Order: sequence, then C-alpha cells, then structure tokens
Amino acid sequence: MIELRHVQKQYQSGSHTTYALHDIDLSIEQGEIFGIIGHSGAGKSTLLRSINLLERPTAGSVVVDGVELTALSTKQLQEQRRRIGMIFQHFNLLSSATVEENVAFPLKLIKTPKAEVNQRVRELLELVGLTEQSRKYPAQLSGGQKQRVGIARALATNPHVLLCDEATSALDPQTTNSILSLLLDINRKLRITIVLITHEMHVIRSICDRVAVIHQGRIIEQGPVAEVFLKPRHEVTKQFIEQVADSIDFRDEKLSPDSTILKINFLGESTYEPILSRVVQETGVTFSILQGTISRMKSTPYGQLVVKIEGPRQAADDTVSLLIERGLDVEVYEHGLG
Ligand SMILES: Nc1ncnc2c1ncn2[C@@H]1O[C@H](COP(=O)(O)OP(=O)(O)O)[C@@H](O)[C@H]1O
Ligand SMILES: [Mg+2]
Repeated sequence: MIELRHVQKQYQSGSHTTYALHDIDLSIEQGEIFGIIGHSGAGKSTLLRSINLLERPTAGSVVVDGVELTALSTKQLQEQRRRIGMIFQHFNLLSSATVEENVAFPLKLIKTPKAEVNQRVRELLELVGLTEQSRKYPAQLSGGQKQRVGIARALATNPHVLLCDEATSALDPQTTNSILSLLLDINRKLRITIVLITHEMHVIRSICDRVAVIHQGRIIEQGPVAEVFLKPRHEVTKQFIEQVADSIDFRDEKLSPDSTILKINFLGESTYEPILSRVVQETGVTFSILQGTISRMKSTPYGQLVVKIEGPRQAADDTVSLLIERGLDVEVYEHGLG
C-alpha cells in the first residue's frame, strides 16, 4: 500500500546540512493503522510528509497505491495527493470559514458540483459528530471539535490513506481518547489506511496494529505493537514503553536458594493459568504470583505475570521447559543462589 525505499532527506541551510532521514525502508499494508513513534527532532514529521511528498526526499522512492509518487509530474502528483488526506497537531483550519466551509474546501478546489459538495459535507459532519456545529467558526469550537473538522476535511476527497501528524498532541487525555476512537472507527468503517506519528506510547497502544520507532532519522525497531511492547530491543523503545508501564518492581523480593523468578508474557485471551497449575503439579515445585498486570492493546488484553517458583534448580528448569513447550512465553528473570 505504502512503500518507502531508501528514503533520504537532507536539509541544506547555507553551508550547514541536516540529515533528517537516513535510508528509510518501510512497508505499510492496506487497511492497517501504522504508528511511528520518536522523540522531538527524530524525523517523524519529515517522514510523514515524505509519504505525500510535502517534503520531497533527496533520494529514494515513495510508492502509494501502486503509484510511484517520486516519478510523477507536478500535475499528476496533485491528482494522486487527493487520495492521501492529512491532519495536523494545530488543526490548520481556515479561521474565517465556518465548519462546513472548511470541510467543503478541498471539494471546491477540484470544482465538485455544489449539490454534491453539500451532500458530502453533510455525511462527513455526521461521521465526525459535528452536525450541530456546521455554521460555527473554528474559534467557537473546542480543540477536540477542531480536530474533528480537520478529520472531516481530510476525508472529503475519499482518500485511501490518512496521515496524522501528532494529531492528538495538543489535546487533553480525555479528548485524545475520543479522537483516537474516532480514527479507529473511520479505519474500520471506511477501510482507510492510517499512518500516525506521535511521541506518546499511549497513542500507539490504543489503536495501532504495527509500530516503527524512529531515532535520529533511522528506523531502529518495528513490528506488531504487541511484539514490540513485550520484547523491546532498543533502549529508546524501552524508554517509550516505560511511559505506559504499570510498574513491575519485584527486585526487592528476597530470593531463597531454591527459588526462581519467571516472567510470563501473555497476549489475548490467554490460557496461562491452567497450563501453569498443571505443569507445577507435574514437576513438584510450588509457585506464588508476585505480580500480574493486564493492559489493553487496541482490543487485545496483554500483560505479564511474575511468578516465584520454589523447588530444586532441576525442577525449576524442567518447569520452565515444560511451560515453553506448552506454548507460554516465559523468561527466567532470576535464579536464587542455589
Ligand atoms: N525545513 C527544515 N529545514 C532545516 N531543517 C529541518 C527542516 N525541517 C526539519 N528539520 C530538521 O530535521 C530534523 C527532523 O525534524 P522533524 O521531522 O520535524 O522531527 P520531529 O517531527 O520528529 O520532531 C530536525 O533536526 C529538524 O531540525
Ligand atoms: Mg514533528
């Protein structure tokens, strides 16, 4: 759906060169919600704006919907851009136009017949829940309502892709959640592919299917959100996950020589409980749960269970092998001194 190959971007100001993107390869599938997370200055906006060529890469190719945008003329590019909507952190609405005029704007630009514009604007305002506000001006709206106008406007030309540049970063947490649910709803109803950038892990966890972590202009890690959450590789990724961690701290637990601490990761409607009780019966160890956390990722529950096993080292090792054999994702956190 979206393919970035060896995308590079340098900004030249006088004799100074900023390397904003280095050799970015990214494939985003039709219909998914793909998140890109990174700190300020990491290159997120440059990357997002490369997808519709608001920033033209200095090298590499961008293919959207099977069309290589980097090979098009200006006029052809304008046409293709209608298939890519975009929303912004500060909404970028026309302040002297009403809500409905803002939404109608992209349709008027391409000379859509008036009756059709009116019909489409009505549908869009209903979709984003702003039917009552259609005659208001942006200054009369809350932040969340302004972003809803931004979303309706971005969807006016029936795009296949929606790019979101820190779309919730100017909103309070509750409003953020309502905008995220709206994006999820739009993704499901319209089957539109969404690419969003953010510095907030909460946003990724709430609605994304896959995530890429960008650091100093490079993608340092990517994968399904659950995988990246449970097994982050890179230090920067770990820091982002800490933003939303329900802190697990069992380091003070006194370990007797015969104890082992295990971390069991689980995802979805997991069956770790029966497996765990059956296995410890077989190996003859005893266990106690030190900590369990469950969170939600999009609509999937996931979490970690921290378990202390008491028994001889061999029995503990057998327990771990059996748990893994029966399909649980187990890590040995610490063995006692035995
Ligand atoms: N128009 C520009 N001219 C020069 N440097 C820029 C320009 N836009 C962005 N940069 C630089 O490129 C890097 C990445 O910026 P940006 O993509 O905006 O990061 P992010 O969105 O992750 O905060 C930064 O070092 C920034 O200063
Ligand atoms: Mg930015």
